Amino acid sequence: MTSISLRSTDPTRSRVDVIVIAVAKNGKGLTALAPGDQVAAAFGRRFAPTLSTLGFEGKAGEVARLPSAGVVKSPLVIAVGVGEEASVTTESLRRAAGVGVRAIHNAASAAFALPTADGADVQAVCEGLLLGGYDFADYRSDNDDDRVSNVVVLTDLARSAAAQQAVAAASTVADAVNLTRDWTNMPGADLTPARFAELTEALELPERVKVTVWDESRLRKEGCGGILGVGQGSSNPPRLVRLAYKPKKAGLHLALVGKGITYDSGGLSLKTHSGLMSMKCDMAGAAAAICATWAIASLELPIQVTCFAAMAENMVSGSAIRPGDVLTVRGGTTVEVHNTDAEGRLVLADGLVLATEAKPDLIIDVATLTGPCIVALGKRTAGVMSNDEALRDAIPAAALRAGEPMWPLPIPEEMKPKVHSSSIADLRQHNPDPVGGALFAAAFLREFVGDHRWAHLDIAGPAFNDSDAYGYTPKGGTGASVRTLIRLAREFADDS
Ligand code: BES
Ligand code: MN
Ligand code: ZN
Repeated sequence: MTSISLRSTDPTRSRVDVIVIAVAKNGKGLTALAPGDQVAAAFGRRFAPTLSTLGFEGKAGEVARLPSAGVVKSPLVIAVGVGEEASVTTESLRRAAGVGVRAIHNAASAAFALPTADGADVQAVCEGLLLGGYDFADYRSDNDDDRVSNVVVLTDLARSAAAQQAVAAASTVADAVNLTRDWTNMPGADLTPARFAELTEALELPERVKVTVWDESRLRKEGCGGILGVGQGSSNPPRLVRLAYKPKKAGLHLALVGKGITYDSGGLSLKTHSGLMSMKCDMAGAAAAICATWAIASLELPIQVTCFAAMAENMVSGSAIRPGDVLTVRGGTTVEVHNTDAEGRLVLADGLVLATEAKPDLIIDVATLTGPCIVALGKRTAGVMSNDEALRDAIPAAALRAGEPMWPLPIPEEMKPKVHSSSIADLRQHNPDPVGGALFAAAFLREFVGDHRWAHLDIAGPAFNDSDAYGYTPKGGTGASVRTLIRLAREFADDS
């Protein structure tokens, strides 16, 4: 646990174990950004040459450690590169804080002297260090926490109400992202649908949030054939979790729907070994939807949110669904299953129909839905598809403000007849063509939202980082889309 306090002290006088400063490059070479420039000034003319001697070039993500030898009160200075001075953004600060906190070892206290022009910058720095300091140690036998416990953020705004609020907001946001990461990192054997539902019920939710859990028999009574169909091959039965947040004053009603496949083996359309390895992450959309709802309610944003998390395990067994089977999803639409590995859209179909029944102004679903979306946009960018062009473009713009890469993708018109090309049922679940997989999936989902404004976030790439940590993003579960959902809720609340 990291606790943050704000202070307006001169960074050279801060009595901490380590002080983190940001160093940019400009036409003249390396330059420490205020308030870290005071640390650089204390080193005098040696500062930039010393960094260069260490091979430090000021590139974003770079780190150099400088023993201060009494030049400043803190014995160690960590310089974090932020790239070109002219292109430093709020997101650069968030990342620099993440890089800085990851570079701190065996220190009890640290001070961050990064530039903060306003409350938004203070929030970004706090988010970066809370997110960058994330460590999933639950399954390690030596889980000694060597993370820094006391952090001071040095800013001239320390006494302002805006800065105080920024710290509180950052900690609510970071808690939501980090819980999404925890759940995503939990092995499939431990985070079963039932356990996932229990953990959601056990959340400390504000009073205005109501949680309901549907078990298998209730799902049957309610006609949720998509969730039941996907879950029927597993000995861990499926669940549907609903969270309803209704503030006193609510402008807009947002429905969130999350894909909660606690493990995706592919079913009878079994995945290859490498495809199986990270598939405990296939519930990241549901986790993001739940945790974003939790944060939105904790922040008391004046927006109504109803969240549906469709939880099932996609396994191989004698009772698993077969290619060729027909499922009847909630509302009566029949779907011919062609590929049991395209299971996400089947559970989301029930979730989306439930969402429409709540009569929201807007529906957003979040899902680790397709490998093809990763082929299209890479590992770090989520795809955004929608039945409303303005919404499709507004979401990536809001995501950018939240510091999460998202990009609009089309739902081309030729997808619709393909979705309607089953020879025996209303809809065909899987693309007859080998290309455009992310777009076909969106066209399939669109069938279940009626006339509602709806957007679909495919987070298959960014939800799980199988490479090394970078910025404030750790290895493993990343919590992708949580910050964007919270940001959207805030912006919708401001607009209505
Ligand atoms: N859960 C996967 C998608 C996925 C892939 C998420 C990689 C994260 C990383 C999804 O259920 C799936 O298997 N999709 C298929 C789609 C296909 C059958 C149209 C895929 O990716 O091949
Ligand atoms: Mn699958
Ligand atoms: Zn899946």
